[in-house]
Amino acid sequence: QDELKDAVAAAALDEIRPLLGRHTVIGVGTGSTANRFIDKLATLRDDFRGAVASSEATAERLRGHGIEIFELNETGTLPVYVDGADEVNAHLHMIKGGGAALTREKIVAACSERFVCIADASKRVECLGDFPLPVEVIPMARSYVARELVMLGADPVYREGVITDNGNQILDCYEFMIDDPEAMEARLNAIVGVVTNGLFAARGADVLLLGTDQGVERLTP
Ligand code: A5P
Repeated sequence: QDELKDAVAAAALDEIRPLLGRHTVIGVGTGSTANRFIDKLATLRDDFRGAVASSEATAERLRGHGIEIFELNETGTLPVYVDGADEVNAHLHMIKGGGAALTREKIVAACSERFVCIADASKRVECLGDFPLPVEVIPMARSYVARELVMLGADPVYREGVITDNGNQILDCYEFMIDDPEAMEARLNAIVGVVTNGLFAARGADVLLLGTDQGVERLTP
């Protein structure tokens, strides 16, 4: 799997290279696959202006490579966002947030013209939900939101010891297969106290670079 992650990270570099210029700021995601992309991106450091990071961890890694970090409020729309996923279906809807960075990831994705998802073949699924769906909650609403999630058929589990970059908590929804990701994304967002949920369906990926034993497949919705 490490080799597949390296292969999709290299493919992502080829995918975004034509978009880079002296003034370009790109969005960069979080996780082990995104980390490999960041390490390769360092080779192009002088070809673009900098990056908006979807987490403190990503910002630190980018800075470590000498890549300048920008605040999203300073940049306006970004040409491209590159990030991994925990699960992705044929419509390029995703579950994200295994690394607890879902809210910032969704914000940066929303502000980007293109979302390039990089993933190894194990992430490709027919139906989203085998991977427990993360829901970021305002701490005082955690129990209330958990009860609401139970009423929707999920088995929510508090991710103990994890505080998000936004100072919030995570509930992971087990036993929750998702037939209609767009509808469920909106339904979960409507629960008071929910900051974000890890369904990326209203804004899915535009391109999936999927690492397989036969090579990197380039898929579109
Ligand atoms: C971070 O919160 C997640 O959304 C990651 O993008 C996702 O968990 C993929 O991570 P890996 O590349 O480590 O599998």
